[in-house]
Amino acid sequence: MFETLSPLAPDPILGLSAAFKQDTNSNKIDLGVGVYKDENGNTPILDAVKAAQTILQEKESSKVYITPQGHQGFIDGMLTLLLGASSKVLSDQRVAAVQAPGGCGALRILAELFMRCNKDTVVWVSDPTWANHIPLLGNAGLTLKTYPYFDKASASIKFDEMMDCLTEVKAGDVVLLHGCCHNPTGADLTQSQWQAVAELAQKTGFIPFVDIAYQGFGEGLDEDAYGLRLLADSVDEMVIAASCSKNFGLYRERVGLAAIITKNPETKRIAQSQIQSVARGIYSMPPSYGGALVDIILNTPSLYTQWNAEVTEMRERMITLRQLLVSNLAAQGVDKDFSFINRQKGMFSFLCIAPEQVQALRNDKSVYFVDSSRVNIAGINKQNVEALAQAIATVL
Ligand code: LMR
Repeated sequence: MFETLSPLAPDPILGLSAAFKQDTNSNKIDLGVGVYKDENGNTPILDAVKAAQTILQEKESSKVYITPQGHQGFIDGMLTLLLGASSKVLSDQRVAAVQAPGGCGALRILAELFMRCNKDTVVWVSDPTWANHIPLLGNAGLTLKTYPYFDKASASIKFDEMMDCLTEVKAGDVVLLHGCCHNPTGADLTQSQWQAVAELAQKTGFIPFVDIAYQGFGEGLDEDAYGLRLLADSVDEMVIAASCSKNFGLYRERVGLAAIITKNPETKRIAQSQIQSVARGIYSMPPSYGGALVDIILNTPSLYTQWNAEVTEMRERMITLRQLLVSNLAAQGVDKDFSFINRQKGMFSFLCIAPEQVQALRNDKSVYFVDSSRVNIAGINKQNVEALAQAIATVL
């Protein structure tokens, strides 16, 4: 049977890591997969996570299954982190949620839930969006369409075109929005743009679907949740997929949250039973470990403070690296104005250069990043930034 299958090209993002490993150039630069790296190119375990590991080691007394919804302390802590301590939808008991195996698991659970509600559900994604949104949502059987988002020529959001498109979206269609630190462009909506989107959602009746995988990497934990919280206060129904991979550095532990805001507590109970059954039908229950660590961090005030400080340090370092890249490119005398990199948020920037230039950087200069021209800002450091700017200047 398997000879009927045809071979596939490597994943456009994960495939870069394999290619990078094989490159023997000792000056190679990896700006591919979205993983935070420190000045030495390492991705260490956060100190707050290490402290939580010690606590968990002491208190975990069994490896028996956890429930399909996951650790309740994790769910409650994450919902407060996302929606805010004074969230009305939380006090109104309108939020169903499960711990999921990573943000990817959360996206897939929600996609399966949309299919249970209506197999003809259309999900609108930004053009461009994170490459893996397409298979994660599309393979569940949903119809995907795109709305205009980013203009490469001006390196800015095409907000008017985006709104014109979303005005035509039907009630009950789903619109996927990146909560903060848009992947791949780093271009985020302003507060007034979020307000316009929320008003449009109220008017047209589309369901906002907020994917938030970089909370804290843009402007701060609360600041980055602005759009999500505004939507939650504005509409009757929405869904949220959150990831703990980046801001807790728990990549391999696969920790995420899928949440559904319903019109009332009765529908919440129904939605809760449905997402648990979706989870049971795919993987039964989430892995315990990472969720247990996040539960400890979010519910231990001293660890929360320590974790917030570590998130702040990562955020501030990435802001500095953006400035460093922009000034090094200017020092190379390039014609193109790259100052837009300083206005973008989070881990990624679109360099807005052509795929052939990206490939030339990879093949001739051993600089690895996604063909779309998305770079992982955290892969830059003081040692490689000059060589990076020189290489970019050469292909320009
Ligand atoms: C990325 O966008 O690079 C990360 O989210 C890793 C991945 O799975 O693609």
